[in-house]
Amino acid sequence: MEYTTLGRTGLKVSVAGLGCGGPSRLGLRDASDSTDHAVALIKQALDLGVNFLDTAETYGTESVIGKAIKGMAREKLVISTKKTLTPPGHPNPEEEVRVGLEQSLKQLDTDYIDIYHLHGVEPNDFDHAKKRLMPAMRRLKEQGKIRFIGVTEAFVEDPQHRMLQDSLKEDIWDVVMAGFSLLNPSARKTVFPLTRQKRAGMLNMFAVRRGLSQPQRLKAMVAELINTGAIARGAVNLDDPLDFVLRDSGAATLPEAAYRFCRHEPGVDVVLTGTGNPAHLQENIAAILKPALPRPVLDKLAELFGKLDHLTGN
Ligand SMILES: NC(=O)c1ccc[n+]([C@@H]2O[C@H](COP(=O)([O-])OP(=O)(O)OC[C@H]3O[C@@H](n4cnc5c(N)ncnc54)[C@H](OP(=O)(O)O)[C@@H]3O)[C@@H](O)[C@H]2O)c1
Repeated sequence: MEYTTLGRTGLKVSVAGLGCGGPSRLGLRDASDSTDHAVALIKQALDLGVNFLDTAETYGTESVIGKAIKGMAREKLVISTKKTLTPPGHPNPEEEVRVGLEQSLKQLDTDYIDIYHLHGVEPNDFDHAKKRLMPAMRRLKEQGKIRFIGVTEAFVEDPQHRMLQDSLKEDIWDVVMAGFSLLNPSARKTVFPLTRQKRAGMLNMFAVRRGLSQPQRLKAMVAELINTGAIARGAVNLDDPLDFVLRDSGAATLPEAAYRFCRHEPGVDVVLTGTGNPAHLQENIAAILKPALPRPVLDKLAELFGKLDHLTGN
């Protein structure tokens, strides 16, 4: 594993982080799925050198992390979890944050959280988050219950990163989580210059998602781009639109190429990988440690997707 410093937090984090949410939720797709499998997946990631675990109060995976890390030296781990925003009109959002944090601590079986995020903040939520929730977050930080304050964007609703662009004008986040992938690299221009300026740590979500792991979804997405004129007809092979990526990069699979794309982007600190499959986990961590994609492949990807800022790959 390789390690890096997560912006101004100073935390030493593995460049691959285990995403315990997303479509896979460690394989816990429904209530009948085995938590033993999920615990084993977390242990596998830890054995491969991953020290960064990302979850949220809504994922249903905090307690599984608690089980997997039992007996481990807590200071060797970086745990990131998230508070869902309270709906508008809630009488006491500050108290909701405090109670949410206590529940997360209990589920995770720990007495502090390294990074506590406001989860999926949409552009219109920022004012409420800043005025009503941030004071409570700051209090938790002063009490030592959380070490750093983060925010995650609602990438599907806000693929142009409007919330991050707006909120990063201020200096309130220690860490941010943004969507970034070869299908939508727009954060490179609109977010990373700001995170660098503020020295905020940058966590990369949506590196692969469904668009880069399910060939039919990719084909449909590219067909739509051609229909709308966003990509020139004839610019790609319609049956296998990213065939050139595998052919010219030596990557064995598209997920491998997609993780390599993100890992070598200046401005990305941790690439999150989400899976319920132990073989995928092994491949993905190996991919994150492989070299950058060759320049001609990056150039062709930039030609196809470099100006787009609406795809999420969801
Ligand atoms: N707003 C937010 O706060 C927010 C939103 C979304 C995500 N996140 C965080 O970001 C993390 C990463 O996002 P994500 O979970 O969507 O991760 P991702 O790594 O971009 O994509 C995961 C998807 O790709 C598939 N996949 C992964 N590796 C594969 C491989 N080698 N071959 C084929 N398919 C593969 C997975 O299915 P399999 O299970 O079959 O491998 C899953 O469907 C989440 O787990 C969560 O922690 C945060």
